[in-house]
Parts: sequence; structure tokens; C-alpha cells
Amino acid sequence: MFKTLDDLDPEQRVLVRLDLNSPVEDGEVQDNRRFDRHAETVRELAEAGHRVVLMAHQGRPGGDDFVSLEQHADILASHIDRDVGFVADTYGDDAIAAIDALEAGDVLLLENTRMCDEELPEEDPEVKADTEFVRTLAEHVDAYVNDAYSAAHRSHASLVGFPLVLPAYAGRVMQTEYEANSSIATREFDGQVTMVVGGTKATDVIDVMNNLGDKVDQFLLGGIAGELFLRAAGNDVGFDLEGMDFFDDQWEENRETIESLLDERGDQIKLAVDLAYEDETDDRGEIAVANITEKDRAYLDVGSMTVDEYDPIIRDSEAVFVKGALGLFEDERFAVGTTGVLRAIAETDCFSVVGGGDTSRAIGMYGMDEGDFGHVSIAGGAYIRALTGAPLAGVEALKQD
Ligand code: 3PG
Ligand code: MG
Repeated sequence: MFKTLDDLDPEQRVLVRLDLNSPVEDGEVQDNRRFDRHAETVRELAEAGHRVVLMAHQGRPGGDDFVSLEQHADILASHIDRDVGFVADTYGDDAIAAIDALEAGDVLLLENTRMCDEELPEEDPEVKADTEFVRTLAEHVDAYVNDAYSAAHRSHASLVGFPLVLPAYAGRVMQTEYEANSSIATREFDGQVTMVVGGTKATDVIDVMNNLGDKVDQFLLGGIAGELFLRAAGNDVGFDLEGMDFFDDQWEENRETIESLLDERGDQIKLAVDLAYEDETDDRGEIAVANITEKDRAYLDVGSMTVDEYDPIIRDSEAVFVKGALGLFEDERFAVGTTGVLRAIAETDCFSVVGGGDTSRAIGMYGMDEGDFGHVSIAGGAYIRALTGAPLAGVEALKQD
């Protein structure tokens, strides 16, 4: 296991990797739960009197959301009720001067790690540890803290290089996410274990089923992935209509796997019995899957009969894991499936973990209380990998001693 903040010596200069990667709209960085979560780690370190140097990334070179972290510093400051200094430099003279000028309890955010050429290409930790970026910064701090669980599936310099050259610790977000998201692979549950799997990527669902088929009793399907499984079960859905690009390629690539999963694990896999669409008057319409003779419109959610079938299964479960939405929940008309299962989880006294891309956003959007869930993950890709038991480069690097 890794060391945590409980093991950190007092009065350190700590270099902390956060994941503040956020939606950017018209150049404006949008506040989101990543700030709120990481605030806990940063506040704890500052209040303990450490000198806190923060690193994070935003977007990727070439993307519209590849911007400076200047706004992130202000947003973070509003979450920790103390100043967060910012320097527009990753590891050059300006960055070093700002680090060396820190006093106990000060917090400084360095520029977007991905503006440094040595950050991005995925390479072994040993290679990353030997970059100028890592070697230079390491000389000016005493310890490294990785709190960026949601980026830990990337073998980037700021995530895997530092633990090789500095005493390394897991931050509070890293610690909580790791424990909750690994639990399905590591923990024994007394009762029924259910997994709600939706979203757009069939391979995520397939990976989860292949790896957790013996741990999970029931898979409740929805989303694009669910429609592909319905097609494999012989229904006339799960293909692209004109102008669509969701189904056909995925079908080509995954058809055999999906068919054999249905063959081998049919008893564990629950598919939607009805689907929802936009009707002639722009309202939500529903149709039973058995009555679909030919797909002639897009299906945007599972139907209410499906929610009625999924609801009692969730309420009978000891543990429920959610990966991916069951419909296009951003549109209220098509949020019935996703909010239906989330409400059932919230009202049930089960162990629960919700994550996978944007799914957890539905909780706040529809007035549910995050406290009614066991763990709400801020991770996307890392969450999927953790669920399937795959190692995360950033976590493995932290575990090395
Ligand atoms: C995320 O937002 O999913 C993580 O920060 C990883 O970002 P990336 O997908 O751009 O590597
Ligand atoms: Mg991503």
C-alpha cells in the first residue's frame, strides 16, 4: 500500500499533483466537484503549516480546453478560503523563484503541466523520473503527494516520475477513490452485488462484464451499450440512423463478444424492456422493446417499465456500482432511467459507488444528495480501469517504496 498524509513529516515543502481538468466554456473554466474534493487535501496541508506547491493539467495541446491554470487558482482559492498564488511557468526560473519564496501555509499553483514537453508522452516511470522537469522541481521540495486519482491511468511525468525521486504520499482524494473504486475487486459482500452499466462505450461494458462476471450478480443495462446488447438479443435496434455514428462501428467490432456474453451470462444480464424517444410534439414517448418492429427513431433513455424492473433489484442489493448513464440525462425528458436508478440507490441502505464520466453529475443536477451515496467518484477512465481490476500507473508508482 501507499503512504498517506498521516505519514508526512511536519513543515515540509510538498509538491502536490491534483486533477483540476475541467470543462471550459468560451474560455471560462467551469467550477466542478474536482475543486471541492481536492480542496480538502490542500486545506489540510496548508493548515498543517506545509508549503504547498500544486501541479495540475488542463486539456491537451491542440484542444480548445488547453488553457492556462490561472483561473483554476482563483476557483480553488474560493473552495479553501485562502489565497492560491499562481505562476505562469511549469519548472523554469519563475516557478523556482515562486516556490523558494513560499512561507509556511502558503499555496502556489504552477502552470498547466501539459505545457511542459516532458509531461505527456506515456513512458515508464524511470524515464519520467529522469526528465529535467522532474529533476528540477524535485530539488526544491521535500515530498510529493499524488491526489490525482482520476488522472492516475496516465503514465505522465507529474504522475509517475516524482515518486521515484521523492518520498511519496497519497492525498485524501487518492486515498478515498482508491479504496472505494477497488472495493468491487477486493471486498467480499454478503448479499447481492449489482452493477448498473450504461454510457456510450460498449468496450467499457464488455471489460467490466469479462472481469467482474464472477463478482457481480446482476448487470442492469442501458445507454448506447444497452441498445447494442438488445440488438445482439435479436431486437431491431442498436444501429445508426441517418446522421448517427454511435452503433455500427461498435457493433462490427464487438458483436461476437456481446453475443457470447449474452450466451454465457444471460442470467446475470438485464436488458431494457422499453425505450424512450422524442415524439411528434417533442415530448417523451415510450415503446416496449417487444413492440419495436423496425428502428425508425433514436432511443434516448430506457423506459419507465425498465426502471420498475431495475428498482427492486437495486433495493435488494448489498452493494451497487454505477458505470455510465442509462440515457441522455442532461435533457430532463430523458433522465428517467438514470435518476430512477440513482434514487433507488440513495433510498437504499446499500454500499454504493457512482462514477464513470459524467454520470455523477446527474446527482447534483436532479437535486439528489451526494451524502446518500457511499462514494461518488470524480474519475472517468481511471474509474473504469479500477473497476475491472486493471492497475493505474500513478497508483503503482506511489506504492513503490
Ligand atoms: C480526465 O479528466 O479524465 C483526466 O484528468 C485525464 O485527462 P485526459 O483524459 O486528458 O488524460
Ligand atoms: Mg478523459
